[in-house]
Amino acid sequence: MSNNLLVGKRGIIFGALNDMSIAWKVAERVVEEGATVTLSNTPIAIRMGTINELAEKINAKIIPADATNLSDLEQVFSQSMEILGGKIDFILHSIGMSPNVRKKKPYDDLDYDLMHTTLDISAISFHKMLQTAKKMNAINDWGSVIALSYIASHRTMYGYNDMADAKAMLESIARNFGYIYGREHNVRINTISQSPTPTTAGSGVKGFDSLMDFSERMSPLGNASADDCANYCVVMFSDLTRKVTMQNLFHDGGFSSMGMSYRALQQYNKSFEGSQTDDGKIIYG
Ligand SMILES: NC(=O)c1ccc[n+]([C@@H]2O[C@H](COP(=O)([O-])OP(=O)(O)OC[C@H]3O[C@@H](n4cnc5c(N)ncnc54)[C@H](O)[C@@H]3O)[C@@H](O)[C@H]2O)c1
Repeated sequence: MSNNLLVGKRGIIFGALNDMSIAWKVAERVVEEGATVTLSNTPIAIRMGTINELAEKINAKIIPADATNLSDLEQVFSQSMEILGGKIDFILHSIGMSPNVRKKKPYDDLDYDLMHTTLDISAISFHKMLQTAKKMNAINDWGSVIALSYIASHRTMYGYNDMADAKAMLESIARNFGYIYGREHNVRINTISQSPTPTTAGSGVKGFDSLMDFSERMSPLGNASADDCANYCVVMFSDLTRKVTMQNLFHDGGFSSMGMSYRALQQYNKSFEGSQTDDGKIIYG
């Protein structure tokens, strides 16, 4: 259903790999709301994934770019302005990757070269994107930029590894660049802290299925899906949120405010079933 919230707006969507990607859902929704967009991803992701199908479906051009490479980013902005016919109104940074997670290196045995890559791809690329856009004056006044984060930036989550450090940095970049870009061009910059979502990147996190189940049980509204996230992005890109900036916005069904829920507690108790006496007393040790 369209509310025409983004009619006439031009956007760039980074990070659609396949139809599970959060960026894919966002691209579909913003176009449904009247926006025109370009899509960007790395050349290898374009080859290995199915972004071409998305491009055809929403009639968008794909501009290949490694988001850690400044000249690639300049190309994305200059070509997008040319293709879309003017400056950009909104940007989605939906990019994340940890080679330490991929290689199953634990947090107390990280490879530091790989950690630099994690930070460069998952956080510093956001700064590079913003700095490039600002130098090229590529974003319209009152434009809106969103990057996707996860609560492991604030709280220790088993298995999230060096991505937690990357997300903390990503959120900090949103605040610090949000100040400068807001002050000078009224551009707003926020992060959306999304529930665990079954995507290619998400499924790489150790114990992901249990994590999904745990946060589902802990959240009064249940986990937010990629489609829910796309709806939230539409609102954040629209003119209805012009004074929201420098925020980390939780989009997680209430998870971030919970300590323990009835549903999670019930599941937790089940794990003691094998270690109880007949009259229900827990046997410790
Ligand atoms: N899935 C989850 O549980 C979850 C939860 C919270 C936040 N997020 C965040 O959402 C964002 C999108 O991830 P997703 O879950 O849709 O998974 P995804 O695997 O579909 O998307 C990740 C994207 O990052 C791209 N990418 C990797 N290296 C890149 C580079 N150098 N330059 C440009 N693009 C590059 C990949 O090609 C891919 O398209 C990520 O920032 C992720 O951390 C995901």
